[in-house]
Amino acid sequence: MKHLCFEGISALSEHNWIMDRILVQPSGPLSGDVKIKGAKNSALKLMAACTLTEGTFRLNNVPDITDVRLMSELLVSLGMTVERIPESTLEIINPGNLAPEAPYELVEKMRASIVVLGPLLATYGTAKVALPGGDDFGPRPIDMHLRGLETLGAQFHSQHGYIEGNCEGLIGARIVLEFPSVGATENVMMAAVRAKGETTIENAAREPEIADLATFLNRMGGNVLGAGTSTIVIEGVDELVAVEHSVIPDRIEAATYLAATGIAGGEVNLIGARPDHMDMLCQKVGEMGMRISADPNGLWVMCNKDLQSVDLATLPYPGIATDYKPFLVSMLTVASGVGIVTENLFSGRFRYVDELIRMGADIRTEGHHAVIRGVRRLSGAPVRAHDIRAGAALVIAALKADGETEIRDPEHIDRGYEGLVENLSSLGADIQRLS
Ligand code: EPU
Repeated sequence: MKHLCFEGISALSEHNWIMDRILVQPSGPLSGDVKIKGAKNSALKLMAACTLTEGTFRLNNVPDITDVRLMSELLVSLGMTVERIPESTLEIINPGNLAPEAPYELVEKMRASIVVLGPLLATYGTAKVALPGGDDFGPRPIDMHLRGLETLGAQFHSQHGYIEGNCEGLIGARIVLEFPSVGATENVMMAAVRAKGETTIENAAREPEIADLATFLNRMGGNVLGAGTSTIVIEGVDELVAVEHSVIPDRIEAATYLAATGIAGGEVNLIGARPDHMDMLCQKVGEMGMRISADPNGLWVMCNKDLQSVDLATLPYPGIATDYKPFLVSMLTVASGVGIVTENLFSGRFRYVDELIRMGADIRTEGHHAVIRGVRRLSGAPVRAHDIRAGAALVIAALKADGETEIRDPEHIDRGYEGLVENLSSLGADIQRLS
């Protein structure tokens, strides 16, 4: 028993010793250019759509991040081949005859795996996907995905932690989503493209990533109209072909560097960013005192004065994305005045706030509201990244914290960012990653 205890302790200290950390010293002003990578939340869905037909696909502008690697593993487990070739391109070969089953080992690591359900079901008449659990945001149900697919004629039953769907050919129908869920809209869109007849999705999500998926499906020979609006009409087709496509730039990654510039001050060009995908965010940070301007290369952002507090609420697109919120909260921690932030999408998405409080932030949360009273400077401390965006929010907050901030568990950040540390360092931030 003693021996076991001893082994436990030595394993723990070894684990601590090998753990990666990001170290940030107070920095700023930032200056220079950052090239914005392809959008994670589009790339993952386009990869899932490659299950719809056999052939060789090429996806350009795919970020080299953990979630893309996990989705690659999932496609490989279905029977496909995925290879990263130069210039951020993924070559995906679908040989047909896939095994339509997504195992728990992969789904538990990445909830977005659920988007293979619709296309596999529509293509093979059967699909089995492990049920995703909740996560740091709170519960993450998939009832709307299932109801949408049931309306098209699928039947589901769940057992042993898996959801299994079957159908004898899907039939187009009118689906009214209870809430404009991104994942449910995508799952239904990918299934409907292979259904017989016309499907209409009302109250569809309007995110730019939905429009990118529709462009991809149409390039494959699909017939999807209205993506980017609340009503999407899909006429099912008999045949689809493998194609090449470039992923849209990541508005959330762009927002991260924008917010970093707000916190540290300076002037940064976000090369390739799409200002038209970030309207509400630009308006909000403008109210906070930043200067933002669209230019032919992307987005120019500048901050040369103290930030002013604002109130904000997250909403489905085109509202302020819940994924921007952690960065905006970091900005508000060092702004003048008091800001009230309301989270309308994910019940648990304030959990990381305790880490900011450890850094000296003055934040009170009550249900889905947070009241943030700006302080002049934060104070560096060891903190933990709980998820992708919360981790990035701590990194950028640390730019205005006295002393050193140590961000632990940075592998959460790697799920969604390629080169966050390198990019901030190239802008002049004093930041490094220790292994
Ligand atoms: N919801 C249900 N039932 C469902 C589906 C969703 O109740 O069947 C609820 C959710 O619990 C949540 C709300 O609807 O309260 C919105 O969820 P949505 O389905 O729109 O989100 P998602 O598809 O699971 C995607 C992004 C998230 C992003 C949200 C909201 C991907 C892989 N993920 O998630 O991005 O926050 O949309 O815009 O696209 C991230 O990139 O870090 C991330 C979490």
